[in-house]
Amino acid sequence: MKTVLVTGGLGFIGSNFIRMLLSEESSLRVINLDKQTYAGNPENLADLECDDRYQVVIGDIGDEGLVSRILDEHEPDAVVNFAAESHVDRSIDGPEPFVQTNVLGTLRLLEASRKFLAGLASDKSEAFRFLHVSTDEVYGSLTPEDPAFCETTPYAPNSPYSASKAGADHLVRSYFHTYGFPVLTTNCSNNYGPFQFPEKLIPLMILNACEGKNLPIYGDGGNVRDWLHVEDHCSGIRTVLDGGRLGETYCIGGNSEKTNMEIVDTICSLLDEKRPDKAPHDQLKTFVKDRPGHDRRYAIDCSKIKQELGWEPRYSFEEGIAQTVDWYLENSTWCENVTSGNYQRERLGIS
Ligand code: NAD
Ligand code: DAU
Repeated sequence: MKTVLVTGGLGFIGSNFIRMLLSEESSLRVINLDKQTYAGNPENLADLECDDRYQVVIGDIGDEGLVSRILDEHEPDAVVNFAAESHVDRSIDGPEPFVQTNVLGTLRLLEASRKFLAGLASDKSEAFRFLHVSTDEVYGSLTPEDPAFCETTPYAPNSPYSASKAGADHLVRSYFHTYGFPVLTTNCSNNYGPFQFPEKLIPLMILNACEGKNLPIYGDGGNVRDWLHVEDHCSGIRTVLDGGRLGETYCIGGNSEKTNMEIVDTICSLLDEKRPDKAPHDQLKTFVKDRPGHDRRYAIDCSKIKQELGWEPRYSFEEGIAQTVDWYLENSTWCENVTSGNYQRERLGIS
């Protein structure tokens, strides 16, 4: 039976990834190391609580001793690192936790993994992989005329979040070049889909619109992101884990560039159809002060992963956003527990 150590698996993408792994392979075990910050929600994986192939450890990737104990006990075949502080606005309000987790945490995870690998028998160590999940934001911002980001685009991070992710990516790269440590890195565009925390654009707009609250649009609403359904991101990570060349980076994107205004208008139209009593939802759109240093456009050229590994996204944006709006409408208990803060009661010791 193969074992994968996933970090940050109580968050949005990590929880989707763990569910996908365990549904695709019956002979797989997953250990999920998660600090359970505000973004870590055990309800994201409530359906796996009774699955004995899944185990969660509450802890910090920056705790090298803990990571070493987990590695020695479970002897995973791969580590997949999702753990991060992930929200740009929070990084502007307070950069330090971003450096602690995204840079130092990744360093300690790498270091514990490198020491673990050194003690493995050669057949097991040859198969071992460390996959680091990163972002397209490390490449900076594009003008409307620029070609999309690709694996050779120079790094130019503009926010404390993207700077911390860039720092982590460089450490991962250095472990391959210096120690021959078997790393893979993925740089992905904006994800959306089930279980995304409603501080991010799409779930925030869906839940605010349902509650009749304002829909805050930063600046002129013309910033562009390349949207990818989370299941497509997870299948891309799986593809790289299985077949990626060691030391390489792979860009993953949705071929789906949209302005923020287009996103908000699409959500409003879908809600007008599904909840006509509250229409028109777009009357809630409100222009607010822009995000400082707001990157204008991201776009990903994912031809490398397509040509080398045969991966491409399956969801069209139209299909994915309709499914996502439905998911938020159908999972009102999850939404209420997140918006009320109830999902944190156990962690905070509140009965
Ligand atoms: P998220 O904020 O939803 O989840 C992050 C998870 O990491 C949470 O469960 C949190 O508790 C955990 N965590 C935070 N600090 C930790 C620490 N020190 N030790 C252990 N666990 C810790 O994030 P997400 O949107 O699921 O993103 C996952 C990864 O994918 C991140 O590395 C992010 O940079 C990257 N990424 C995200 C997107 C996106 O659009 N959301 C796109 C590209 C890449
Ligand atoms: O590109 C990948 C990145 O995408 C990931 O690395 C990050 O972890 C993830 O958070 C995301 O970053 P963004 O800053 O692009 O996502 P966010 O959902 O915060 O914002 C998307 C766009 O919407 C951005 O242009 C800012 C705008 N926005 C966001 C919010 C929360 C608004 O106009 N209003 C809002 O209230």
